[in-house]
Amino acid sequence: MPTSPEVVASPVELQRRMLEARARGQRIAFVPTMGYLHEGHLSLLREGRKRGDVLVLSIFVNPTQFGPSEDLARYPRDLAGDLAKAASAGTDLALVPEPAAMYPDGYQTYVDVREVSKGQCGDRRPGHFVGVATVVLKLFNIVQPHVALFGDKDYQQLQVLRRMVADLDVPVEIVGLPIVREADGLAMSSRNAYLGPEERQHALALSRALAAARARWAAGERDARALESAARAVLEPVPGSRIDYVEVRDAETLRSIDHAERAVRLSLAVFIGKTRLIDGETFSWK
Ligand code: PAF
Repeated sequence: MPTSPEVVASPVELQRRMLEARARGQRIAFVPTMGYLHEGHLSLLREGRKRGDVLVLSIFVNPTQFGPSEDLARYPRDLAGDLAKAASAGTDLALVPEPAAMYPDGYQTYVDVREVSKGQCGDRRPGHFVGVATVVLKLFNIVQPHVALFGDKDYQQLQVLRRMVADLDVPVEIVGLPIVREADGLAMSSRNAYLGPEERQHALALSRALAAARARWAAGERDARALESAARAVLEPVPGSRIDYVEVRDAETLRSIDHAERAVRLSLAVFIGKTRLIDGETFSWK
């Protein structure tokens, strides 16, 4: 049986331990999460295990990245299950703080990564990326990682965090790993737990929409609207669904483009019933 990671609730205590680990010359790999771990998170932990002497996971459902009408209270949680899964991936330590330990009374500092946070999830979820950037910078200061690993399903988040680290000279390497999918193509997400059986079937339209656009890209299509239309044509007929956005943007800056001159990112956000799912794919010349 793999050993369960040691759970540390206190950010101050974990920071002390990590500064000591650094002083011993140990390399720290870090995977920040909001828990309810799935195979996507485990792929990050396994890669982190290869890249660090000490592997740290954080489990914190961060209130500052949820809007007032969002699913903070019903966000799925399973600490015992998470620790068992984290153990199987060789995790050494799990930071599991209470909200008051992260945001004590009087808290008032926020990180705003401006351009790349605009549009897409940034517009649909006002304040979301300020909450993400703030908590991740705090977690970096607590965990002191040499390398931090994120899934590229949350692609805009990844680009926001890359920009933050570059702009604020944060000494951490950001590694983005590919989306992990179920056998039938559904991108793994903690929010898949909300889907009923029929919705689960309808949700497969997201990966089919990507495939339709990918086929157009492979056939030489470089017009952003035409690639978006190929994806929309798959998504629009799906019963009980509502497209939030389907957008092809520059893969690095996430600026709007009309025609692909370099790598682009096709990003989808679609409500299946009440559940908002995201998916995406980068198309490049490689
Ligand atoms: O991707 C997530 O799970 C969260 O946004 C993160 C990066 C852990 C910050 O709360």
